[in-house]
Amino acid sequence: MIPHLLAALVLVGTAFAGDDCVLTRPDVEGPYWLDGSPERSDLRIEGDGPLLDLVGTVVGDDCLPVSGAWIDIWHADDEGDYDKGGWSYRGHLFTDAQGEWHLQTVVPGMYPGRTSHIHAKVRGGSGITLTTQLYFPDLPENETDAFYHPDLEVLVRDVDVDGNMAAEFHFVIEDDGVEPCDGDINGDSRVNVDDLLAIIAGWNDPYTVDDLLTVIASWGECD
Ligand SMILES: [Fe+2]
Repeated sequence: MIPHLLAALVLVGTAFAGDDCVLTRPDVEGPYWLDGSPERSDLRIEGDGPLLDLVGTVVGDDCLPVSGAWIDIWHADDEGDYDKGGWSYRGHLFTDAQGEWHLQTVVPGMYPGRTSHIHAKVRGGSGITLTTQLYFPDLPENETDAFYHPDLEVLVRDVDVDGNMAAEFHFVIEDDGVEPCDGDINGDSRVNVDDLLAIIAGWNDPYTVDDLLTVIASWGECD
């Protein structure tokens, strides 16, 4: 059996037992998404909490893992406030060769009208972006949230006495098996000045002149 297929079957066996890799349902974007978040998988801010350790996969509707998938995350802080002018609790990351991803952050606080939720955009090589939200089980506020859906709940693996949580979520997206191109920092399937600006905006993060040169060298449409 080829390794690629074997890996997919392992994923199916663990994450989608009895499932047919049904596309993850979309949910509203809301008003607070910002283009060009920094690439990072650790959004934790010292003193905030409880902590959330979230792992998962991205697979296509053929159940095969999607490597290099772009996942953009944004959510409120533990008080229920968004950073509307900066990048706190905002970031993007990419799946590895097995379609797996790992995010460290905090459990978002609630704000009027909304239960606790994490916003996400996910895109593989097809260029089709899934915009959705993740939720937490057993919150009374879920019942009165207009956008909550049980299919979008994370699977909680562990919660300690302080509320620190380990959980997982598995995205199923439309995908044609083509990996996103290098230099597409903001994941819009184009490499252009917006990607340069995204790099410069996160200049104190691990970006270098080489990253700028990578963008310029791959300028144009992703295909
Ligand atoms: Fe929100």
